[in-house]
Amino acid sequence: MPYYRVVGEVPRKRHVQYRRPDGGLYAEELMGEEGFSSDSSLLYHRHLPTAIVKAEAVTPVTETRLTPNLPLSPRHFRTQDLTSAGDLVNGRVLLAGNNDVRLSYATSDRPSELYRNSMGDECVYVQRGRVRFESTYGAIEAGEGDYVVVPTGTIHRWVPQGQVNVLAIEASGHIRPPRRYLSQYGQFLEHAPYCERDLRGPSEPLLAEGEEVPVLVRTRGGLTRLVYRHHPFDVVGWDGCLYPYAFNIDDFEPIVKKTHAPPPVHQTFEGPGFVVCSFCPRPLDYHPEAIPIPYNHHNVDSDEFMFYVGGDYSARRGSGIDVGSVSLHPAGFTHGPQPGAVEAVIDAMGRGVTTTSEMAVMVDTFRPLDLGQGALSCEDPGYAWTWAR
Ligand SMILES: [Fe+2]
Repeated sequence: MPYYRVVGEVPRKRHVQYRRPDGGLYAEELMGEEGFSSDSSLLYHRHLPTAIVKAEAVTPVTETRLTPNLPLSPRHFRTQDLTSAGDLVNGRVLLAGNNDVRLSYATSDRPSELYRNSMGDECVYVQRGRVRFESTYGAIEAGEGDYVVVPTGTIHRWVPQGQVNVLAIEASGHIRPPRRYLSQYGQFLEHAPYCERDLRGPSEPLLAEGEEVPVLVRTRGGLTRLVYRHHPFDVVGWDGCLYPYAFNIDDFEPIVKKTHAPPPVHQTFEGPGFVVCSFCPRPLDYHPEAIPIPYNHHNVDSDEFMFYVGGDYSARRGSGIDVGSVSLHPAGFTHGPQPGAVEAVIDAMGRGVTTTSEMAVMVDTFRPLDLGQGALSCEDPGYAWTWAR
C-alpha cells in the first residue's frame, strides 16, 4: 500500500514501552514485506502473538490438481453451473493456475475459520452478495464489485451476510497498484484511473477476546492448523502502510480514446507474473468510423483469463458467454470478436448507442495457465469453434 494509515491507539514513538491499563506491556508486532525493506505496519496486541498451543497438518478439502491446456484451445467455463461446498476459503474451486497465481471460484453463506495465507497476497473479487472481512487490522464491509486485497500473512476470516460469490486471485507475492500510476514516493498520479480516496481500509480495531483459537495457515508445504492461546484479533491499534483494503470496480475511472484502447488502460493491479484489469461501463470510442470493440489480437506473452461480471460484452456476441462466464484465451491462439459482433456494434452506433455496459475482471498471466478440475467440470466444449461458424 502506498500510504500511511493509523487505526486505534498507538504509542507516540515506535519500539517504546506501551502499557495496558493493568500495567502490563502491550505486545508489539512488526508485519513487514521483502525482508523489512518494503511496506510494513506495527500492531499492538493485548496478548503475545507468538503463543501457540497446538499444530496439526490439514488435508485440503477441494481438488488442487492442475492439468496443462492441451490440446491448446480457447476455453469457456460457466461458473454459473458450479456448486462449491464449504466456505469462501476452504470451498474455493480451482479454475486455473500456474506457479505465479491461482484463480478460484467460491460461493458460500458460511463464515470461514481464521485463515493466514503465507504464500502471497490475495485479491478477492466479490461478484455477488455482501460479506464482512475481519482481520487483525480490523473489519472491512465488502459488497458486489469490491476487490478486497489481503496482504500476505494477514490473519482474517470472511463472514458472509447471505449467499456470496467470489473470484479468488491468489498470488505468489505482492499485489499492488501499477507502478506507473504512482509518483516516485507512492502517491497516485492524476492520470491514474483511481486514487487513495477510492481505497477503503479498516477504521477501528476489532478487540476480540477468546482462547484456544484455531487459525488455518497455508504455506508452500501445505495446510496447517495452529491453535493460538489468545484470539489474534486482540489488536488495540496499528499504524503503517501495510494493511488490507477494498476497492470497488465502480470507482475505476475508465480511459476512453477516439479509437479502441488496448487492455493496459484497464489495468487495476499488478502482481508477480500477472496483471488484473477492470473493464467498466464507459462511453464508446468516438471517432465517426470507430470500431469500438477489440481487433483480432494475439497477446503473445500472456494467457488472458476474463471473468464476465455484468452488462453485455459486445465482442463475445453469439458465443454463449454470459454473466458469470470465464473465457481463457491462451498465448498461441489469436482471438477477437465473434463473427457478426463488429457489424452489430457499428449498427448499434448508427442507431445512436454511445455507451457500453460491459463489466469484466481480467487476469493476464505471463506464463501459461494450467486448468483446474473445477473449470473442466463446467466447460462449454463448443466455444473454441464459435469463430468458425
Ligand atoms: Fe483479448
